[in-house]
Amino acid sequence: MPESKSATLSMEVLLSEDDWAEHLRDETLLGLQQDPPSTPPVWFYDAVGSDLFDQITGLEEYYPTRAERAILAEFGNEIAGLSQANSLIELGAGSADKTRLLLQALTDCGTLQRYVPVDCSQAALIDAGQRVNSEFPSLAVDAIVADFNAHLPHFPRGDCRMIAFLGSTIGNFTPAQRAMFLADVADHLAPGDTLLLGTDLVKAPERLIAAYNDALGVTAAFNLNALEVMNRQLGSNFDADRFHHDAVWNADDSRIEMRLVADSQQRIVFSSLGGYAVEVPADGWIRTEISMKFTREQVAGELTDVGLDVVGQWTDPDADFLVTLARR
Ligand code: AVI
Repeated sequence: MPESKSATLSMEVLLSEDDWAEHLRDETLLGLQQDPPSTPPVWFYDAVGSDLFDQITGLEEYYPTRAERAILAEFGNEIAGLSQANSLIELGAGSADKTRLLLQALTDCGTLQRYVPVDCSQAALIDAGQRVNSEFPSLAVDAIVADFNAHLPHFPRGDCRMIAFLGSTIGNFTPAQRAMFLADVADHLAPGDTLLLGTDLVKAPERLIAAYNDALGVTAAFNLNALEVMNRQLGSNFDADRFHHDAVWNADDSRIEMRLVADSQQRIVFSSLGGYAVEVPADGWIRTEISMKFTREQVAGELTDVGLDVVGQWTDPDADFLVTLARR
């Protein structure tokens, strides 16, 4: 009788809650000091915001999640065959919903032994880890609580690895953050290891704006919720009733910018940032997120620039979204 393996789940904590909170305070202060002031997108994702984000991914107007899932469903086996990965390291694992398609394809391919979800939230990792454990009992799940921008060098090395960074989360990085991140990933990969990258593609501005300004107002609620989160976490005094959501296509920088626009002049004080204050005039705004939209050539070029070979690029039937596999 074949021996049945039992699922294992381990958790390594590289990031303490205090260190993460301090990092976020520093990053927020830096953004607030810019003109226009900006705040990092991390403030969207408390329990309420994560639930709103889940709702966004199901909206008619918000195509990226559907499109990426379609790509992984259609081409997962091809991607798995090209990568031959033994370990899948997923950055920002979240709900691991689309990951399931990748895990299935890599398992079918017969190479995968280990899944390493990486996230700053231990709770999300326990949830995702347990789900993967029950669906893929033959896989070892070795979760890591980490800031993947800081802790890449500490991730497991050894076998043939694939680092997956899906959902176009890389689009929420500034160009400088993106360049540094890609260089760090390329540095960390050993010859034969691969990076699987999901990126949203440039398209008609009307569709992009609709995706970030949906008719039901879910994205508006998601954006405004960040103010409540900052009030709790940073001791700020935002009055969410005196701001409104806006999503603007910045063609020069090829990105959607999510903004919170002040209905009247306001002075926002952040007591947990040493009392730092921001004056926002009437109709002035704080940028809460950028979401870059790419071309295939740009993605391939940026990966080549850091020394990776692009081995495949796949889109959904409408060419809305792109998944790229690159090898060191
Ligand atoms: C998580 N990230 C890739 C999403 C995006 O599309 O940039 C976040 C989001 N913001 C508004 N809607 C979705």
